[in-house]
Amino acid sequence: MAPRVYVTRHVFGDTVERLKRDAEVRVNSSDRVLPKSELIGHLKDADGALTMVTDVIDAELLAAAAKLKVVANFGVGINHIDVAAATRAGVIVTNTPGVLTETTADFAWTLLMAAARRVVEADRFARSGKFTAWDPKLFVGHDIYGKTLGIVGLGRIGQAVARRAAGFNMRILFHNPRPIPERVIKELGVTPVSLEELLRVSDFISLHVPLLPETKHLLNDRTFALMKPACIVVNTSRGPVVDEKALVRALKGGKIAAAGLDVFEREPEIEPELLELDNAVIVPHIASASHETRIRMSTMAADNLLAVLKGNRPPHFVNPEVWDNRRR
Ligand code: DGY
Repeated sequence: MAPRVYVTRHVFGDTVERLKRDAEVRVNSSDRVLPKSELIGHLKDADGALTMVTDVIDAELLAAAAKLKVVANFGVGINHIDVAAATRAGVIVTNTPGVLTETTADFAWTLLMAAARRVVEADRFARSGKFTAWDPKLFVGHDIYGKTLGIVGLGRIGQAVARRAAGFNMRILFHNPRPIPERVIKELGVTPVSLEELLRVSDFISLHVPLLPETKHLLNDRTFALMKPACIVVNTSRGPVVDEKALVRALKGGKIAAAGLDVFEREPEIEPELLELDNAVIVPHIASASHETRIRMSTMAADNLLAVLKGNRPPHFVNPEVWDNRRR
């Protein structure tokens, strides 16, 4: 009998057709975020699930989905999946690293530049009919060229962000919990510093850390207070890395100049006071949303899923110990 696969949202390209060659595939035709009870209903007889960041895959769901062998996530971040519970249940969890690196780095820069040059505010103004004459004081922003960029988390995406800074002749500082190879540091022309120094001296701070207990609220009242008043903060990592209420206080109180935000602490909810602030550029978690990358993410998720169902080692997985135990 063909394995059963459930796809929790619409995916891209020919992904579903490819899955159908080797599996009996059902897709969430409503394409809405499914509450846990519905997700459990769909997964209880599934061998594989193709999931997204909006699907909460926890111990309760994994216990109910007793046949599940693989959760193939469409996306690199896996904080919505209880990986430890999946490992205990013998379920392989896969993700899509690499294919969205450049697209996400492009977007971190999009937010950085939009916030620095007040693009969204100015767009709103131009559309409102208020643009009656050129004005030297209109939407005066901050230069990027020659400034200091602080990258928190120098993984794949952080490194891609650093590479783009070369064209802006920037001094690039980084803080990474684990040591970065000297070769990479040289190649990128980046300087390792403590988190505190990075926060104190950077003109732009871009966050690229995963959400872990130790990165939750990395930016908070205390750390915002260390920043320069002209500092601009960009977050394309995960919302809870920033204490959103503290961010509102920092933006309102002039502790920092602006923020560019792709992710939010209680997504899809956004702190209401943040929505009132002109110095916050706010977008709905779209950093990896390019046509090309969405197709690559779909393909990679399907490849990972099919590999497991065919008994092969998946190209990208986050709990290899499940695989190793199976091989013994
Ligand atoms: C990712 O890949 O982690 C994106 O944020 C979508 O989940």
